Amino acid sequence: MGLGFALVGSSCATPSPQTTESVAEATPTEVPPEACKPIDSLTTASTRVKDLIAQMTLDEKLGQLNQAAGGRSKSLNSKLTPEELEKVRRGEIGSYLHVAGAEPLGELQRVAVEESRLGIPLLFAMDVVHGYRTIFPVPIAMAATWDPEDWKQAAAISADESSAAGLHWTFAPMVDIARDPRWGRIVEGAGADPYLGARMAKAQVEGYQGTDLSSPETILATTKHFGAYGAPTGGRDYGSADISEQSLMEIYMPPFYAATRAGTGSMMTAFNDIAGVPTTANETLIDGLLREKWGFDGMIVSDWNAIAELMNHGVAATREEAGVLALKAGVDMDMTSNVLPADIRNAVQADDCLMQDLDAAVARILTAKERLGLFDAPMAYHDAQREKETLLSPQHRQAARKAATRAMVLLKNKNGALPLSSSPQTIAVIGGLAEDKMTQLGSWRAQGKPEDVVSLLDGLKQNAPEGTRITYAAGAFPKGDGEATLDTAIATASAADRILLVIGEDYDLSGEARSRSDITLPRNQAALAEAMFATGKPVTIILVTGRPLAIESEAAQADAVLNTWMLGVEAGNALADVIWGKTSPAGRLPIEFPRRTGAVPHTYSEYPGGRPADPDLTKDTNRFMDIPITPLFQFGHGLSYSQFEYGELNAAASTVQTGEDIILSIPVTNTGKMDADEVIQLYMRDPYASIARPKRELRGFQRVNIPAGETRTLTFTLSPDQAAIYKSGQGWVVEPGKLEFVVGASAADIRSSTEITLTQQTITGTPASALSTRTRIE
Ligand code: BGC
Repeated sequence: MGLGFALVGSSCATPSPQTTESVAEATPTEVPPEACKPIDSLTTASTRVKDLIAQMTLDEKLGQLNQAAGGRSKSLNSKLTPEELEKVRRGEIGSYLHVAGAEPLGELQRVAVEESRLGIPLLFAMDVVHGYRTIFPVPIAMAATWDPEDWKQAAAISADESSAAGLHWTFAPMVDIARDPRWGRIVEGAGADPYLGARMAKAQVEGYQGTDLSSPETILATTKHFGAYGAPTGGRDYGSADISEQSLMEIYMPPFYAATRAGTGSMMTAFNDIAGVPTTANETLIDGLLREKWGFDGMIVSDWNAIAELMNHGVAATREEAGVLALKAGVDMDMTSNVLPADIRNAVQADDCLMQDLDAAVARILTAKERLGLFDAPMAYHDAQREKETLLSPQHRQAARKAATRAMVLLKNKNGALPLSSSPQTIAVIGGLAEDKMTQLGSWRAQGKPEDVVSLLDGLKQNAPEGTRITYAAGAFPKGDGEATLDTAIATASAADRILLVIGEDYDLSGEARSRSDITLPRNQAALAEAMFATGKPVTIILVTGRPLAIESEAAQADAVLNTWMLGVEAGNALADVIWGKTSPAGRLPIEFPRRTGAVPHTYSEYPGGRPADPDLTKDTNRFMDIPITPLFQFGHGLSYSQFEYGELNAAASTVQTGEDIILSIPVTNTGKMDADEVIQLYMRDPYASIARPKRELRGFQRVNIPAGETRTLTFTLSPDQAAIYKSGQGWVVEPGKLEFVVGASAADIRSSTEITLTQQTITGTPASALSTRTRIE
């Protein structure tokens, strides 16, 4: 089924500066209630919610739309003053963010339910993105596990801890597909690929929300930042996404669709615009695509101050206009700008349809509270004893260590430089990041504390085999100049047998508003690396980063490169597990590493064009003339301590009709000496279609543990719907014809291929990458 409307902009009478006049002229009698569009959220709401809305004053309704900041992470709950309690009593607040603590929030909730007129409970929210107190690896690292189950478990633990601390609602998962590593927020998502992103989105929603949202151990997920926040021009945060409808639907939307199907209770709109339409005011995308077409029935929250910022975008002249735009588009809750609570009263009173939009927003907020069980058991999240026992429990730490071990990606390993031998030797750990505990907590550290972190250095020291001596010199910290200690670092390194060089970016160089024009190493990190290479000792780089870095020269000079991202509270222990070969690394890149900053954005799944990139420089093709056509490290790349041989990819049938499955299987043998995981990746190409198709698209993967010497056969089962192409005006269309499938160890390391033919054309309602390929291991 085609969408039948433009994907950006408004299909309805949303006022823009040009149309404001005609809307302003409308009186309630000119817009009779029956002309308002019907709103499901009002009709499907429970009797309790409907009854409450019937009793609420206009002020109480507007109050529910108000999400106020109760503090910032550095001074949690600092704004919960006696004046603030009065606002709660008067029903002026629907939710607080940046608050926590079973007891203080319990008192606040008691005031709301016992001392406000209607006793409506409050919603308490925080950015619990990769852990609450037990901090897991940063999201891009969790994606590098290529195992949705790892992330589901991390999200479930985060939900357990944060709900024990009085929270109901997290602003995660962040599912923005991002292909430009200059964008600092790339650290917060699952990387570059819509198929991988959709799997990880679903896993997180399931982890946070569990099977029973009303349980006090689960929390409401917020899938964010709806729209195309991951595609800002030039990688500059908050910038406009000037993308095609094709990219929007095929690349950026699939994880949002997958999260919707997984039942995400809320979504957050993005700060930025798509081709001039800020998503916070995009009725076509929010009410049209998300709610009407996809059937999303949850609550929508704006991003921080984003409703007021519609004026900066230049689509609203006043706060009132901004609020009306957002409410009409389908935004329910106003995160901190206070526009919906304070500035739309007159507009709502003058327009019955807008009043209905307000009622619908209130219904969705009250329904979210109801789904969380807050009307029936408002104090269930305020058990101080449970809070004490749950946070940072040994089991949670163990899960964090396992996830961290599984997230590391071995980028290079010349002559088996890793794992390190346990024979007696001196290892110089060089680089200030080795002792930097804050950095291991990443950019959203919730209630993570540096003192909880096992630093990389401590982990190496504490887990070193008998006879191994660990020496250390900081040399340089990414933020400082480090010059003063370079000599000590050189002396320490020169006296050792080998160097573990810990370099990269600290936590403050990626994340929100942390875009960088140059993604090479910070200057003093590069200088430290040069000094270490100059010692002539074997160097293993332990990379610390929240984004892909352009480390072509450093990677060439090092014996081994282990990308550790930022690993959370168990960072050092996990590093030791991998460095001494207790476990083989098996993480894979969820986005490629470029050779130079100038090569971004680039992806393995680009369109071929008429002159596809060719290594032969005498030909005029789609490439830079000063670098090879390949990235430094490909999407899906990651080495192992073992070796794997792939057999033939076999298709169960060479022609497949609508309704039938595409069944592909491949044997993979661990031919090395160590039990290890391999991430087996399936890519698809539609070689000839009515519109050009990407060179390759990820369509399945499985992380499989294969003991040394053994073989496992992996079977992928797909639906032809996973080959659907988005066609403007028609929707998702499966075209008959040939499909090529390849299996490999990365997007470039292809080991076997086959093809099948689809015999029929079908129209589906589903973004192809959002559909999951089933896998079976035998
Ligand atoms: C970020 C969101 C976050 C919100 C609340 C905003 O600046 O864009 O991702 O959820 O702040 O902390």
